[in-house]
Formats: sequence, C-alpha cells, structure tokens
Amino acid sequence: MARSKILYQCQSCGYASPKWLGKCPDCGSWNSFAEEERVTKLASRKTAEPLSLSGVTASNDDRSSTGIGELDRALGGGVVAGSVILIGGDPGIGKSTLILQALKGLAKLGSLLYVSGEESPQQVKLRADRLRIKSDNIILLPETSLEGIMDVALKLGPKAIVVDSIQTVFSSDIPSAPGSVGQIRECATKLMFMAKKHGMPLFLIGHVTKEGAIAGPKVLEHIVDTVLYFEGDKGNPFRILRAVKNRFGPANEIGVFEMSEEGLKEVDNPSQLFLSERPSDISGSVVTVSMEGTRPLLVEIQALVSSSKFGIPRRTGLGFDYNRLNLLIAVLDKRIGMQVAGMDVFVNVVGGLKIDEPAVDMGVITAIASSMKNKSVASKTVTFGEVGLSGELRAISQAEIRIKEAAKLGFKKAVVPMNNAKKIKGPEIEVIGASNVEEALDIIFF
Ligand SMILES: Nc1ncnc2c1ncn2[C@@H]1O[C@H](COP(=O)(O)OP(=O)(O)OP(=O)(O)O)[C@@H](O)[C@H]1O
Ligand SMILES: [Mg+2]
Ligand SMILES: [Zn+2]
Repeated sequence: MARSKILYQCQSCGYASPKWLGKCPDCGSWNSFAEEERVTKLASRKTAEPLSLSGVTASNDDRSSTGIGELDRALGGGVVAGSVILIGGDPGIGKSTLILQALKGLAKLGSLLYVSGEESPQQVKLRADRLRIKSDNIILLPETSLEGIMDVALKLGPKAIVVDSIQTVFSSDIPSAPGSVGQIRECATKLMFMAKKHGMPLFLIGHVTKEGAIAGPKVLEHIVDTVLYFEGDKGNPFRILRAVKNRFGPANEIGVFEMSEEGLKEVDNPSQLFLSERPSDISGSVVTVSMEGTRPLLVEIQALVSSSKFGIPRRTGLGFDYNRLNLLIAVLDKRIGMQVAGMDVFVNVVGGLKIDEPAVDMGVITAIASSMKNKSVASKTVTFGEVGLSGELRAISQAEIRIKEAAKLGFKKAVVPMNNAKKIKGPEIEVIGASNVEEALDIIFF
C-alpha cells in the first residue's frame, strides 16, 4: 500500500516542510524549496535477525588497491568491499578522469560497470584513449534509469560500480523530477543496498553547487560511507582529493595530484611542490605547516596589505576562512598596535589549497605583518601556532611531525608556541618558542 502526499523539500539539504518556504530553516538557502511528492511505502517487511556482536565476522582487510597510491590513501588504504564512496567536485575538475584511472587499477579484480549518464560511450572512449586505458573488463553503460542500471548490475555482477553522475539517475517509482533531492536520495539508497548486499564497492560522482556543497548534498553525505572532495583551481594543475568523511579511515586525509594531458599524476612530495615557485626575499610571504589528515604539508601563505581607497577596507582570504582572517587582523591591530584595521588585506594560500586549521593562524598573521612592515621573512624559517583573541600563541597538536617535515625540506628555524617548543628537540632545526604573537614576530623579524 502506498500513501502519497505533497510536501516541499529544500533542494540543497533535503529539509522537508508541508508548506513552501522562502528560506530554508536548516541550511539557510533562499528559494531552494521545490514540490516533491513523498511516497510512503507501507508494505510489510521482513525483520532482521538479532545477533551477538562477537558472533559477527568482519575484516578490515578486504580492501582493493586502485593502483593510485594517493587515491588509496584518501580512502584510508584502498577500497573496502561493499562501501559507497561519493566523489564530489566542481565541473571539469577531473572527477571522471580520476575514476577512469581508478577503474584501470581495479580491472584486475574482474568486470567493472561504468554507468555514464552524462557522456556518450564515444566520449568516455576518447578520454580512455588519451589516458591510455584499455581493458575488456571495463563495461560502459549509457543509462540514466535506476531500474535499468540495477537490472544490468544484477545480471553482470561486477566487482565495482561507478555512477557518473548520481544527479542524472532517476527512478520511475518516484514522481519528483530527476536531479531533485527526493530522486537523488532514493536512487543512492537503492544503489547502496545493492552494493552492500553483493559486497561490491559503489562510486557515486556528484556535482558541487556554487556554495561548494554536493547538490542534493547533505542527504547523500549521510547515506554514503566515504565522501571525497576533489578540489583545485581552474588555472592551476594541482588537485587535492580530500576525505571529508570516512567510515573506514581517518577523515581529512588527502591525496595530491597534478593534472596533465595524460591524466592525473600522483605527487609524491606535496610540500616540495607547494613551495616550488616560492619567491625569495619578498615581503608578505611565509611558510607554515598544516596537517592534512595524517600528513604534514608545508604551504606558503602570501599577504598583500595596501591602503584602502574606499571607506570600507576590503579583505579577501583565498583558501583561508574569511572570519578567521578578520579576527587575526583585529589581533594585529589591537594587541600589537599595527595599524592594519583600515587597510585592504588580501591573503592567499598558494597552490589552490584550502586550509581550515587554527595552526596556520601564525603563518597568516606573519604574512600580513611582513607585508605591512615591508620586511621579508628569512627563507629558511617556518612558523605555526593558534592565535588567541588576547594575542597569545596557543599550543597545537602534532607539532613534532610538522617540525620534522620542515627540517626534511631544509628549513633551519621554526618559531612555534612556547608549550610546543618545550617538548621538542630538533638537532637539524632550531626550534624557538614564543608565548604570544608579539614575541613571535620579534623573533621572526628581529
Ligand atoms: N587534452 C587534454 N589535455 C590536458 N588536459 C585535459 C585534456 N582534456 C581534458 N583535460 C583536463 O581534464 C579536465 C576534465 O576532466 P573530467 O572530464 O574528468 O572532469 P569532470 O570533473 O568529470 O567534469 P564534469 O563535471 O564535466 O563531469 C579538464 O578541465 C582538463 O583539465
Ligand atoms: Mg565528468
Ligand atoms: Zn536547506
């Protein structure tokens, strides 16, 4: 028996309401509500058998390598059987390229099903030729109907399935339009049950909206086991694959790639890469160390401070949180007495990286101070630490790993929070502790 009623659902987060709303109370989107018909199935279902935890056999070793080390790393060490992996990213960032290269590695397991609702088999073939991928085990299916996909998948019994993209798939059981939240959730859920039942990994490719969320997004994030975001700048060949959620490994783990004509190439030493074009002896540039998952990454922060031509000073943080930037500017102004509050301040994390970690506060504040003073930071100096509102420098986690990475890349001096410095001795690198921003800047600029 099925009961149906009309309801309105936010197309960005899935929030449901019996009446149309202009603004979503859950995610704050405007004009995001669309009519969806919810079908509630009241069919009787078989109940599951309860079982004792110790009686369950499970292994974390049932992982397959994709043949791409950086992708395996982001997944927590390879693809887990029956897991559902969502790969999101901006249009044209390289999602289809990545997944095709992964299928090349997985093809040793047996037949794989690549469902492409966006591109014709000819388009996929052209890409495969360019990437020099040739495998009889990769089966293409140009299909957008969920029922059609499930039929083929059940007949073929592939070792893995890719759906590129989940937004193109629709089920004729659901009255709402293809691409709507209702469709996406329902189709993803049905595919997930199939993947889990047959122990085959399922990759869902998802588009990202302007706001940076996967469309139909939060809904999908709950359903899947792993969410990977493919990030990068259009004008820049570097690509970061970031695990924002992972039921089978550490979150925030990243893989680093470079896009080339032959496809995505793994980057073995990302710190070196991110510093490769660093100008020397220029004010407004400093190197800091960010932890991305379990990996320390040296990154260059650049700042440009200039006197404001308009009433309201402009602030831009590329790759860095805007509110955090304003907070750091206020600290410099109030606590250090550097008159930056009325200035235009632009901060850029070099290489298209997005950093969301308080440890890089000290890097950002140093870059701004360096530009403001028009004084460069010694090229072999790194700094990191969380900055508090009273200008204090707070200890951060994993300081030792960060310092080791800096030493490995030839840095000679690290200016870090006092409480971190106390616990670290580095023979190859001089570690200097500071208890507040003022002290740290004095050491950096002597
Ligand atoms: N001949 C080429 N040489 C070098 N790079 C190329 C070439 N053709 C495509 N690319 C790169 O591949 C990117 C497109 O990759 P891909 O189609 O995998 O992206 P996508 O994320 O799947 O895009 P969409 O959102 O359209 O599905 C291009 O933006 C470009 O950087
Ligand atoms: Mg694509
Ligand atoms: Zn919403």
